[in-house]
Parts: sequence; structure tokens; C-alpha cells
Amino acid sequence: MTNIHKIYPPNWSTLYQSVNLLNQGELVAFPTETVYGLGADATNEQAVSKIFAIKNRPHFNPLITHVAEVDQARDLAVFNDQALELARYFWPGPLTLVLNRQKNCSISSLACAGLDTIAIRIPRNPTAQNLLIAFDKPIVAPSANLSGKVSPTTAAHVSQALSNKIDIIIDGGNCEVGIESTIINLTQDIPVLLRPGAITLEQLKSHINILENASKDIRAPGMLSQHYAPDLPLRLNVTEVYDNEALLAFGSPIPCKTNVIKNLSLDGNLEEAAINLFSMLRDLDQSDKVTSIAVMPIPENGLGMAINDRLRRAAARS
Ligand code: TXA
Ligand code: MG
Repeated sequence: MTNIHKIYPPNWSTLYQSVNLLNQGELVAFPTETVYGLGADATNEQAVSKIFAIKNRPHFNPLITHVAEVDQARDLAVFNDQALELARYFWPGPLTLVLNRQKNCSISSLACAGLDTIAIRIPRNPTAQNLLIAFDKPIVAPSANLSGKVSPTTAAHVSQALSNKIDIIIDGGNCEVGIESTIINLTQDIPVLLRPGAITLEQLKSHINILENASKDIRAPGMLSQHYAPDLPLRLNVTEVYDNEALLAFGSPIPCKTNVIKNLSLDGNLEEAAINLFSMLRDLDQSDKVTSIAVMPIPENGLGMAINDRLRRAAARS
């Protein structure tokens, strides 16, 4: 592998190499419809431990298991009626279900942080699907960034943070959704939203009842209050922009003097804003002309809930 950036097109030769690496316990970065994932053989404890080491991820923060088909998921996790209903409507797609592990579940217990539960999803990105089918085993994959940093939505983003640590990054272009999967815990009587994401609360509520108090649920160990953080501090819901600031706008930009400005969506479209969020945060973060990023208000409905969740965590300073 001579390419210093280690970015490869999503063809069969790349998939073949990727499967070989996964079988050897190595890691492969690949596209999903949400963000790029850093994948390992989910049944190989040592391979899984490499993910935690490379990302500098705390061991109490469990990983999502990705599979190609519902039958595979049912071998690993106990599906109740609600889980079956959601799987039928939203898989393949950006919804992660937290379920009880089957007794003979083959997934590394490190991947599940020693919990009796497992987070599982079937991605719909064609390259992710082809990789899962070719590998023929579950793949655990967190977002392919260093722990606490902004998630990657292009192969170049992955390369910037991880190219000296992994052998292969499969290039699937820009991620279709741009924000992580929605996570819902179905192990209690009433399902609990653990992480707002690409599937909106409104979409879920048309199928099941949901409790929304995610941050209070201790079974969301990965819901660290500071996450997705650029290096520059963020100021949210701004109505004016200071001289030292870049502007991340939504809709018509508020009048300001800065020329370091990105617009999530000029039309105020939340789908477009989700696609742009992480890459625009990265772009603004790289400017040496500003010392802070001001963010205009985003409505809290639809995908806005997930966008605001990411922005609040990005803005939180410990
Ligand atoms: O869209 C996505 O979900 C992407 C792509 C690559 O699939 N993956 C992703 O993974 O966002 P990661 O590791 O960045 O976030 C996984 C989240 C963490 O917040 C973790 O705490 C939660 O899933 N999680 C995993 N297993 C869990 C479990 N058993 N119970 C509760 N939360 C769990
Ligand atoms: Mg992540």
C-alpha cells in the first residue's frame, strides 16, 4: 500500500484487501450513510482493543455492532416486538437499537463495555453493505475520529486524523446524512432515546412511545457532555457576531464584519445543515483569523434536535 493517505476507491479489490485486514485483526475505515466508521472484527477482542487504543477512547464507552441482515442481528440480540417493528421500518438505515445480548452472543465483551446489552444497526450505505456481506461477520465501528473530536464525513477527514495509524480508508465520498445514527434503548418497558440522530424523534414516535430523558440514563455511557469538539470555542444561538469570531450561519446570515463564514443551509433546510455540519465546523476551526466560532440558532424540530445536541457537546468545555 503505497498511497500515503491510504485512501482507496470502493471497488472489489479494495473490499478484498479490507476483508483480509479484518480477518487479520486489523482495522479498516469505511463510509456509512451517517459518518465514516473505524471497523474491526466484532468477535475479535484484540482487534476491538485496537479501536479503543487508536481513538484514545475510554473503555467504558461501548461500540456499535454493524451487521448486514436482520437474521444476523437476531443471533446477537434479543428482539422484542418494538425492536422488530423499528427494524422493519428503519433498517437498513441510521437507527441503532440497544437490546439485551443473546446468551451465546459472539461479540467481544470489550466492544459492549462489559454490559449485558448490545447496540446494533444495519447501515444502508452500499459500500458498508458490501463490506459486511464480503466479511460475513459483524463489524464494530465507532466514528473514525479521535475520541472527543469532530466526526468525519469524508475519507480526507479520516485520513487527517488516522492515516498514520491504519492501513486502509475506503472512500465513499461525502456521507449522505452527515450526522450519527439515532440510538434508542429498547431494554426497558418504555423505550428511551439515548442519542438524537439521523432518524428524527417524530419519525420514531409514529411507531412507538419514547422517553426523551437521554442524558439522565446511565446506560448511555458514551453520552459524554463534551464531544464533537473543534479546537476553537463555540458560542451558540448568537444574535450578534464579535470581531474575533467566525460565523456558522443557518438561513439568512445575521449582519457581521467577519469574512470567515459558512452557511449550514441558506434556505434553512435541516437535512442540508446535517450534511454540512461537521465539515463546516472543521473548516472554520482551521482559520487562523479568528479565536472563536459563533453559531446562529437552529430550530429544535426534526434533524435540528440532533444538530443542536452535537453543537451543545461541541460547545461544552470541561
Ligand atoms: O452513525 C453511527 O452510529 C456511527 C456509524 C459509524 O455507524 N457510529 C457511531 O459510533 O457514532 P460512536 O462510537 O461514535 O457512538 C456510539 C454510541 C456511544 O455513544 C455509545 O455510548 C453508544 O453508542 N452505545 C454503544 N453500545 C451501547 C450500549 N450497550 N448501551 C448504551 N449505549 C451504547
Ligand atoms: Mg463518535
